[in-house]
Amino acid sequence: MSRAEGPDQPSRLDLDKLVALAWKSQEHAYAPYSGFTVGVALLAGRKIFRGANIENASYPATICAERVAASQAVASGVRELSAMAVATSSPRAAAPCGVCRQFLSEFNPDMTIVAEGTSGERKTWRLRDLLPDPFEATDLGGFRRGPR
Ligand code: THU
Repeated sequence: MSRAEGPDQPSRLDLDKLVALAWKSQEHAYAPYSGFTVGVALLAGRKIFRGANIENASYPATICAERVAASQAVASGVRELSAMAVATSSPRAAAPCGVCRQFLSEFNPDMTIVAEGTSGERKTWRLRDLLPDPFEATDLGGFRRGPR
């Protein structure tokens, strides 16, 4: 059993399927500035949401593949993120950036993340291990508003 596997975690088979879909999603990356392409497949609820990085001539307007997929899930009414596969043009298994770790952690700090690089290297983590102490709703104290 790998580190991130457990009763609530997706099986090896689920993760293999997600990784294959992440590679397909990478084909849709729009990365003319960095040339670094990222594809993502996210298992959320009983659906799979896909994402790719989308760059912009105004560089900071770029959005990472991970946040594209998570935004699609949440905007579709699905907040139960359980596993995400990330495929990048790096030979290494590259973990999601810090902004994406924080963004994903809002919905499930215990979700499984699996990354694969072009060399075939694969790494699997629990999000909490990548971002051990996220800023979260309770940190807002009295500044938290509304039921949504
Ligand atoms: N990128 C992602 O899509 N996900 C990450 O976790 C890291 C970086 C994208 C953003 C940019 O388009 C390119 O990779 C280089 O940073």
